[in-house]
Amino acid sequence: MKDENMSKNKVTLSAFGKRKRSGEKLIMLTSYDAPTAAIAAAAGIDILLVGDSVGMAQLGYSSTIPVTMEDMLHHTKSVRRGAPDSFVVFDMPFMSYQASDEEALRNAGRALKETGADAVKLEGGAEVAPLIRKLVGAGIPVMAHLGLLPQHVQAVGGYKITGRGDDAARLVNDALKIQDAGAFAVVLECMISDVAKEITSKLDIPTIGIGSGTDCDGQVQVVTDILGIGDFTPKHAKRFANVGEIMQQAMKQYADEVKAGTFPAKENRFDA
Ligand code: KIV
Repeated sequence: MKDENMSKNKVTLSAFGKRKRSGEKLIMLTSYDAPTAAIAAAAGIDILLVGDSVGMAQLGYSSTIPVTMEDMLHHTKSVRRGAPDSFVVFDMPFMSYQASDEEALRNAGRALKETGADAVKLEGGAEVAPLIRKLVGAGIPVMAHLGLLPQHVQAVGGYKITGRGDDAARLVNDALKIQDAGAFAVVLECMISDVAKEITSKLDIPTIGIGSGTDCDGQVQVVTDILGIGDFTPKHAKRFANVGEIMQQAMKQYADEVKAGTFPAKENRFDA
């Protein structure tokens, strides 16, 4: 099923800037396991983000806060096994990089060494610029993340749209600071679209939007949102399929056929 033309377009670190300049959109999708990663790679997804959204999408938590380094290492190894040639980004979980730069360097180093990820992502603006500089200086490519920061929801009191009023100037300044620190790309989450447009036009590095309009250099979505797995679809997402319904229907049919004695059938049996 793999389209050979897809691998010719494989994204490398140096391709991010080129894609921005050429205007060809970057497509990023979250992925948490080997089979889904393999399907995403075959579908031509440029970048697989092992997001800390794994906490909600896979682990049954109500936020990203409980997600640990061990969770992220486990899921990123799985994604790398499923998509050996894809550009994989390891999302640094809450409190893996905030306590000290030394701890952040060690954890980001583990992320690359133990999983084979190509880069790490971390949340924050000007306040994380010095850390981004240190990570990049140590040879760790960093994708930044501005706007709505899910790891800060408890501090700011919920999931809020960013970039209204004076907040716009702060976000533009944050974007310039993280670029100056050496980030190779930046996620813009749930930001007023005109602010995302302004940031995109001011930066040399690509912006990858989620809920931030069409003017970003690329888009990212959470895989379970676009597949229709789970009850809730956020405003910024679109269900491109109803995979949850298909799964439920298949599981029900399996149960019905076992009860009826029609499965396993003759062709599923091993006879002497
Ligand atoms: O964890 C995640 O899925 C993310 C995306 C929302 C960008 O950070």
